[in-house]
Amino acid sequence: MSYTITPMTSHQTGAEIRGLDLTRPVDAELKTRLNRDFAKYHVLVFRDQKLSAAQFAAAGELFGPLHSQHHKDIRALGHPEVSEIRNTEVAPGKYMIAGESFHTDHSNHPCPPRATSLHTVTLPSRGGDTQFVNVHLAYDELPDEMKHRIEGLKAVHAFESRYTPRKMRELSPESRKALPPPAIHPLVRTHPDNGRKFLYMNPVRMDSILGMEDGAAMALLRELMAHATQQKYEYRHKWLMGDMVIWDNRSVMHQANGDYDMKEVRHLYRIMIQDDPALWTAEGEKTLAVMAA
Ligand code: SIN
Repeated sequence: MSYTITPMTSHQTGAEIRGLDLTRPVDAELKTRLNRDFAKYHVLVFRDQKLSAAQFAAAGELFGPLHSQHHKDIRALGHPEVSEIRNTEVAPGKYMIAGESFHTDHSNHPCPPRATSLHTVTLPSRGGDTQFVNVHLAYDELPDEMKHRIEGLKAVHAFESRYTPRKMRELSPESRKALPPPAIHPLVRTHPDNGRKFLYMNPVRMDSILGMEDGAAMALLRELMAHATQQKYEYRHKWLMGDMVIWDNRSVMHQANGDYDMKEVRHLYRIMIQDDPALWTAEGEKTLAVMAA
């Protein structure tokens, strides 16, 4: 099978893929090419797909085994690793939009997912874009003084930070039981596939930075977020029916937009892809050694 690939920005953040039907078998060579393109562009947009929950899960597995989701109560029937996200009225006239500020997914896990993917089920007539910002570029363009300041810093990521800019969705008892303890991750990491450094930040989950007073830590996080979310680092995805979009949670942060008519439905399937636990175990061991010293 062959496909065409078209970059969506001048800075290699996002590329559109046409000509593939992901319900059809994919051979090893095609899988390798797709993963290579993914490492280069960080966000891939597969157009014109029509996937059931099972077919979507299988398409996601081209990029690795699936990762479990925090919220067990929104699983697609019969497919525990596929969740269904939609605008939900939580109180009269008040809507919960999952992911409505820049973040990276499930960073409170000891081994957070390398990627997340969404596939359209129903779209509003306008709005509801997803924005992505490239955190490799953001790191590269930091002043040297800031790079030195943040090198070696480690942050504690909880399910919901005490300083989160937005409330997280309530966890069901089953979801709460499955929640891992808070994780510690470096603020600056190196991508295992492209060797580039990136900023690893998530204001909804970052609860503290080791060795820093909280006020100073949160001020630093705000400064870094203001830098990293500039439009020059962005690919803004305007959804079309049939899109399957996959992004690398290490290379980009993302946010949803609740800017559409809430009487309309925005409904997508969502999956996440596991990272290599060995990468994170090595980081975790280094962290324990630093803490013990
Ligand atoms: C998410 O944050 O995973 C959801 C993004 C979106 O709905 O656009």
